[in-house]
Amino acid sequence: MNPTIRPLHALPNLSDDEQRIVDQFHALYYNKRLWATTKWLGAACLKSPTDTWVYQEILFETRPTLIIETGTAWGGSAHYLGTVLDAISLRDPAYVARIVTIDTETRDGEADHPRVTKIKASSLAPETIAQVRGTIRPTDRVMLILDSLHNRDHVLAELHAYAHLVTPGCYAIVEDGDINGHPVHTDFAPDQGPGPLEAVTDYLATTDRFEIDRAREKLLLSLNPCGYLRCVRP
Ligand SMILES: C[S@@+](CC[C@H](N)C(=O)[O-])C[C@H]1O[C@@H](n2cnc3c(N)ncnc32)[C@H](O)[C@@H]1O
Repeated sequence: MNPTIRPLHALPNLSDDEQRIVDQFHALYYNKRLWATTKWLGAACLKSPTDTWVYQEILFETRPTLIIETGTAWGGSAHYLGTVLDAISLRDPAYVARIVTIDTETRDGEADHPRVTKIKASSLAPETIAQVRGTIRPTDRVMLILDSLHNRDHVLAELHAYAHLVTPGCYAIVEDGDINGHPVHTDFAPDQGPGPLEAVTDYLATTDRFEIDRAREKLLLSLNPCGYLRCVRP
């Protein structure tokens, strides 16, 4: 790493040497494809456990009542969210929350959860966006997770379609900004080239409603560098 030019994904509280160690571990974790074999209660959940731990902290702290997720895959992440919401509800019976997850594909053995509603369509189809908007109640606290196609144009379009629905105090999480050299590179199309992190950069140039919360990367291994966006304005 050139000590005078810190990469975009570098954490502000790390020295160059520390960042190098984190990046090397990140590359090892990523290239071993451990994110592809991680399961939550038996369902493939394509995330790092360090990120899902942080998700749990965010859910507990911000208490969203509606989570919109693009990219269901095997349903593991939606299932994870559902079980964390179950656990919070045990502590706080007045807390009622649900998840809407969107994917173009249906897979054999997808996980289901009573809190999860699945939409099988493109996240960017006008009907899908309208359907999601139609599920929002006036009192909802809305959180957003973007984890479908990981190229910049798609993620940027999703941000424009859904991020304005996020409630102040809640988060929009843009997954997998680590690709395109932040610090890893994918070996599978269509994820090569500018990706989620570039979409975040472009989106934040158009709005002051969100701030990147780098404190959510405190566990050092995060597949979502610069991807935890806190909604700070109505
Ligand atoms: C990274 S996976 C989702 C992983 C899942 N959220 C998890 O953590 O387990 C990406 C998913 O996005 C879906 N996808 C691709 N293009 C899409 C689109 N336009 N709309 C909705 N889903 C899409 C793919 O079918 C794939 O299942």
